[in-house]
Amino acid sequence: MDGVTVINHPLVQHKLTIMRKKETSTAGFRRLLREISTLLCYEVTRDLELTMETIETPLKEIQAPVLEGKKLVFASILRAGNGLLEGMLDLVPSARVAHIGVYRDHETLEAIEYYFKAPEDVSNRLIIVVDPMLATGNSSIASIEKLKERGARNIRFLCLLAAPEGLRNFQAAHPDVPIYTASIDSHLNEQGYIVPGLGDAGDRMYGTK
Ligand code: URA
Repeated sequence: MDGVTVINHPLVQHKLTIMRKKETSTAGFRRLLREISTLLCYEVTRDLELTMETIETPLKEIQAPVLEGKKLVFASILRAGNGLLEGMLDLVPSARVAHIGVYRDHETLEAIEYYFKAPEDVSNRLIIVVDPMLATGNSSIASIEKLKERGARNIRFLCLLAAPEGLRNFQAAHPDVPIYTASIDSHLNEQGYIVPGLGDAGDRMYGTK
């Protein structure tokens, strides 16, 4: 599918299978999410631009590569996005963080915004928006609309699982935003859950059900 990268690294797929299992504990789920998010972060940042810098090793002065441009922004869609955030920050500790609160109205499945906090200057930074589940796409579409209103132009979206319905909605709304996911699952059920999925990601990582 154009604009969608499925990250099929064996370690990602193995960890995802354990996360899907209903008997995986809250602690286990959270630990795996942190581990898998590091691997996903590695893939979503694979093509970042480098620039050369002069440094001195204990032996010699050399030109060595460093990341070019302004610090990245990781934008977490609350609350489940925070589960992906920690592993990503392990890998890129200097990244800036945005938090976006949108919840799904269970009747209409529409996204309602209740919180938005992002760094001031998002216009010349790469923003990686994270949410483990791309289900209907409503919350990610709304979150990215808010970021674009603040001037964000260079955006990528990272999730763990995506439903075909959500991918279609998302790409219709934001064709300029590449999507990275560990799996495209079968479909959404009437309650808006991804099937086979892994259940409610927020509940599984925080033990709220
Ligand atoms: N959000 C979740 O946490 N799980 C789903 O299956 C769909 C949306």
